[in-house]
Amino acid sequence: MEKVKLAVIYYSSTGINYKLAKMAEEGALEVGAEVRVLKVQELAPDAAIDSNPAWRANVEATKDVPIATSADLDWADAIIFSMPTRFGNLPSQMKQFLDMQGGMWAQGKLTNKVVSAMASAGNPNGGQEVTVKSLYTSMMHWGAIIVPPGFTDDSIYKAGGNPYGTSVTQGQDGNMVEDVNDAVKHQAKRTVEVASWIKKGK
Ligand SMILES: Cc1cc2nc3c(=O)[nH]c(=O)nc-3n(C[C@H](O)[C@H](O)[C@H](O)COP(=O)(O)O)c2cc1C
Repeated sequence: MEKVKLAVIYYSSTGINYKLAKMAEEGALEVGAEVRVLKVQELAPDAAIDSNPAWRANVEATKDVPIATSADLDWADAIIFSMPTRFGNLPSQMKQFLDMQGGMWAQGKLTNKVVSAMASAGNPNGGQEVTVKSLYTSMMHWGAIIVPPGFTDDSIYKAGGNPYGTSVTQGQDGNMVEDVNDAVKHQAKRTVEVASWIKKGK
């Protein structure tokens, strides 16, 4: 069978969600998927980016990551989204990307995409779960097939036990607090596996 095509689409100011996206890529490659890691378009002005050296550094470090387009969604069998919370909600950059898919939606091109999501926040209960669920609300409108991790693997407990989607806390030092590598890889593999069932069934 043709390989499952997975788009890992993220937004990241200071690098956490870029790292989550790369972990997901690694997991999906291990089960033979074809993977594109893509960022959504930055919308913040340079003045805002320059106000935080970690933000500017991440923009520079990821400048070669391609920007996600509708064509990538068309290409993908499965999509993993990853984003930081913004006041308990989706970052505007990710929301803008979703809001630009009206044409794709109207043509039915988003139906049956297999999707899963990950998130981060600055506090252990800072909005990770609700951010993932906000994304899933839009996915229901797309007619996507949502694949949450649930508690399908021990790695999920080790990562903090978020059944909606792997999530992580960014500590004061800017790094991840929980060890989420295995949980992200499990989530990616599970998403690819479910996508392969759907692909076969078509
Ligand atoms: C405008 C803004 C709003 C934020 N809102 C929250 C919040 O509601 N709760 C929280 O715990 N962290 C909040 N944060 C912290 C970010 O979620 C955290 O730095 C991010 O998850 C790191 O991911 P990144 O490195 O991929 O950008 C906020 C950060 C910014 C800049």
